Amino acid sequence: LRQIKVNDDDFGLMTYDPGYVNTASTRSSITYIDGGKGILRYRGYPIEQLAEESTFVEVAYLLLHGELPTETQLNEWEYETKQHTVVHENIKRQMEAFRYDAHPMGMLTSTVAALSTFYPEAKNVKDPANRMLQIRRLIAKVPTIAAFTYRHSLGHPYTYPNNELSYTANFLSMMFKMSDNFYEPHPALVRALDVLFILHADHEQNCSTSTMRAIGSSHADPYSALAGSAAALYGPLHGGANEAVLRMLTQIGDVKNVPDFISRVKNGEGRLMGFGHRVYKNYDPRARIIKQVADEVFDLVGRNPLLDIALELERIALEDDYFVSRRLYPNVDFYSGLIYQAMGLPVTMFPVMFAIPRTAGWLAQWNEMLEDPDQRIARPRQIYTGSDEREYVHLAHRR
Ligand code: ACO
Repeated sequence: LRQIKVNDDDFGLMTYDPGYVNTASTRSSITYIDGGKGILRYRGYPIEQLAEESTFVEVAYLLLHGELPTETQLNEWEYETKQHTVVHENIKRQMEAFRYDAHPMGMLTSTVAALSTFYPEAKNVKDPANRMLQIRRLIAKVPTIAAFTYRHSLGHPYTYPNNELSYTANFLSMMFKMSDNFYEPHPALVRALDVLFILHADHEQNCSTSTMRAIGSSHADPYSALAGSAAALYGPLHGGANEAVLRMLTQIGDVKNVPDFISRVKNGEGRLMGFGHRVYKNYDPRARIIKQVADEVFDLVGRNPLLDIALELERIALEDDYFVSRRLYPNVDFYSGLIYQAMGLPVTMFPVMFAIPRTAGWLAQWNEMLEDPDQRIARPRQIYTGSDEREYVHLAHRR
């Protein structure tokens, strides 16, 4: 930004771009999006190929290190990360103090923030080895905390991590295993969840990732920064949209009510949740892959009746001039909630399911920012619209 001032009294020239619609806040070599063509790549690899061939653990490595790992590197990465899946017992006790009906996302956000008090050395963000240790800790512990939030809402005892299992299978085990019973998640569900995690792992400078960079730019520790990102993700216009989609579909209730609902959206009485995207002005490539995953999961656990309402909404919207002219297409959240519901998860867990894989992206972006010599503390400017200088008025003289 070059501020052009003709003299000291002149305000100068400044860009004004609310919501950063056309302002790059950083350079990044992690994720590439072409919203017009519907392209998403991590480190150059198309999302379709990663979803087909890779695993979430490998994708997390790719996002963080820039290259796909060799077999030895992958084994080491997986092994070292698994050393950190357990959380301190006091974290568990702290979680027990939440109300029985506390929202899982609120529990996750505040518990991640609390982790910073357990790892005070994390504030040494200038040391790359120290950063990598905290990154492994967070990638390992977020699923454990996420599963604890679910168990807490049920009033069930927490299930400790099982490091014999893969990342995703371990998460399902912590969620659904009852007491000491044997529990082995179905391989198809494990794979479906792994694909969902791959699709959600990063998405360049979205609201929560920008938050991670903004907080991290003050050299705050990564637990505090990641708690801020989780809070940003929770909003219904961002990661809370998958929860909002399910509530919307439930409220519509029947396929026959879809045209009336669409009319109300067009009259400005609400938004079609799970539709539209700041960057994609074409079909979100993740939504396309998620539709396939949905079919595989429904084959296994039975069809979610809300799917018919979703399909009808999409069919009508894609033919309606209101949505076509505004280039509003289904985004990643339109179908993900239906899959999570079919897996037996309550809607309140949906944003948490988003936060688990996005942890890898947030941390990759945070690490990249700290390695960028040009990066300075995030400090946007403003266009002041308030009053000119005026005299203080004493209370007795105010009207
Ligand atoms: N339903 C109906 N109309 C919409 C929708 C929608 N979902 N999204 C945008 N519009 C309309 C707006 O009303 C506006 O119309 P206008 O020009 O007549 O005023 C126009 O499309 C442009 O909308 P903006 O809000 O300016 O678009 P923006 O890029 O700021 O917002 C966003 C993008 C927040 C995703 C928006 O499309 C939305 O609210 N979608 C629903 C929530 C959602 O699904 N969020 C998840 C996003 S993906 C993610 O975070 C993982």
